Amino acid sequence: MAKKQKSSPAAQPAKAPSSPAEVKALAICAAYGNKPSELLEILHDLQQSLGYVPEAVLPALASALNMSRAEVHGIVTFYHDFKRQPGGRYTIKICRAEACQSMGTDHLCDHAEKSLKTTMGGTSADGKVTIEEVYCLGNCSLSPAILVGDKLYGRVDAKRFDEIVAGLSKETAA
Ligand code: FES
Repeated sequence: MAKKQKSSPAAQPAKAPSSPAEVKALAICAAYGNKPSELLEILHDLQQSLGYVPEAVLPALASALNMSRAEVHGIVTFYHDFKRQPGGRYTIKICRAEACQSMGTDHLCDHAEKSLKTTMGGTSADGKVTIEEVYCLGNCSLSPAILVGDKLYGRVDAKRFDEIVAGLSKETAA
């Protein structure tokens, strides 16, 4: 009598990806050998590629890594570095660490939120700029400091912030 084969969830044929984001997510998983232990690296790469980690790809990730959706969701929500929504075309990181605080970064953050009509972590209504707070950009001697894409600015006050935002369309999106 033929022995009945046990089937494991990992051996089941994978569902075809239903979106470009899923295709990208599955390709990244495959590049990491579909190892659950590589989930953080996979999520970082996915965010790097798409700008955020879409909720819609979590089931495909879970399936590819043979994890539960709850496990994957738990990791994505635990680490605040993972963005759950697409960001603006530009991301401005404003330093709120000690040296910048002593030079008025709180006022700068208030100004950024008011002028862009959003809150830290949010995006302006026109989708142009996302603002985020960070803790030390290594530019303490030129506080308050901000980072726009990979460009560092020092001694940024409200007026300079507005000038930088106004000039963003001339720069490379990041
Ligand atoms: S404290 Fe702001 S750059 Fe270091």
